[in-house]
Amino acid sequence: MVSAFKEPIFNTRPFLPPLDEFTRGLKLIWEHKWLTNDGPIVREYEQALADYFHTPDLCLFANGTLALQIGLQALEVSGEVITTPFTFVATAHSLFWNRVRPVFCDIEPDTLTLDPDRVEALITPWTSAILAVHVFGNPCRLSRLQEIAHRHKLHLIYDAAHAFGVKVEGRPLVDFGDLSMVSFHATKVYHSFEGGLLVFRDGALKKKLNYLKNFGFENEVEVMMPGTNAKMTEVHALMGLLMLRYADQIIDRRRAIDSAYRERLAGVSGLRFIAPRAGVRHNYAYMPVLIDETAFGLSRDEVYHALKAFNVYPRRYFYPLVCDHPCYKALQIADPLTVARRTADQVLCLPIYPDLALDDVHRVCDIILDIRENRAEWRRRVAVFGLEPDRPVGPQPNEGWEHVLDRP
Ligand SMILES: Cc1ncc(COP(=O)(O)O)c(C=O)c1O
Repeated sequence: MVSAFKEPIFNTRPFLPPLDEFTRGLKLIWEHKWLTNDGPIVREYEQALADYFHTPDLCLFANGTLALQIGLQALEVSGEVITTPFTFVATAHSLFWNRVRPVFCDIEPDTLTLDPDRVEALITPWTSAILAVHVFGNPCRLSRLQEIAHRHKLHLIYDAAHAFGVKVEGRPLVDFGDLSMVSFHATKVYHSFEGGLLVFRDGALKKKLNYLKNFGFENEVEVMMPGTNAKMTEVHALMGLLMLRYADQIIDRRRAIDSAYRERLAGVSGLRFIAPRAGVRHNYAYMPVLIDETAFGLSRDEVYHALKAFNVYPRRYFYPLVCDHPCYKALQIADPLTVARRTADQVLCLPIYPDLALDDVHRVCDIILDIRENRAEWRRRVAVFGLEPDRPVGPQPNEGWEHVLDRP
């Protein structure tokens, strides 16, 4: 039997640039005494990102959630928006904050992204946009979604929170659609502690986004619209700026880990990885594996709990589906979400981060194979020790939805 890790192996750990590079930058901030409100480092960072993404049409924010929320507001998205339930809750929350009703649509099995073949059936006179997610950094079916959005005159918005550094035929993935949001949260491939970016087609949006993230201020005495506070600080921009130097190195390192998992676990009955796509430069943001209980001999939850006994902490992203959380349960859903439901029950994201040693990746694989070998024993043990109890649900799960539950 393979032994447990002495130290926990978490799903992810952030990459950090050398501390002295960061402290040198901090000294500058101390000298400037300019901490936020479009400071010199934020400006330098925005320019560096414009060079990285080959477009001036982008805008920095305090985090990805506010970026998406404000992006939807700037595009004046209203009524209903077709989106995926297989995502982080912030995707749907950004609609809620714009008083827009999410219409959940199934995903396709190969990419786990919004299934274009199911989108059209959900379009109604109230639909104003499609909000698709490049989940785990895997590009959506870009041309199919573009064609549907164009034909129905809908905005096409991408939650590209996971997709920093992904390219399609050499083009940054954020180049597609009307607007894309990238998250720079600490758990992402590339981060600025917290942060978010919008990249958009219509350059005229920039002015509006700048208003919306800074209370609507035009100047000292004029407020043009009731904006909020979603500005990035100088310290966050400094981190982001430094991290840009290491972005390619981080992705290369992740690629090596991804390959090691795929090689070691290839052909194991009941395990399926998402196949890499031709023409795509992936960023290896996550290491999702789908576990078929019948073929593997254990359910995803049993494997998840067994791994914890070895001090390995994978994550069940994205389970439950967004639509199954108490706050969204009251929404009526037309699509049976067959693939999304199956995926949420099967998916397990294995540890992947730049500092994870390849020897440790091999050991995680040894443990998975060992768990499978001894599946009868693990089924018994997990049953004896029990699965985690469901957390108690709050008293008013649908509070806040009254205004969007009924169609306008
Ligand atoms: C798919 C998705 N959308 C939106 C967000 C929100 O981004 P942030 O944490 O930067 O607010 C995240 C993650 O954090 C995410 O995974």
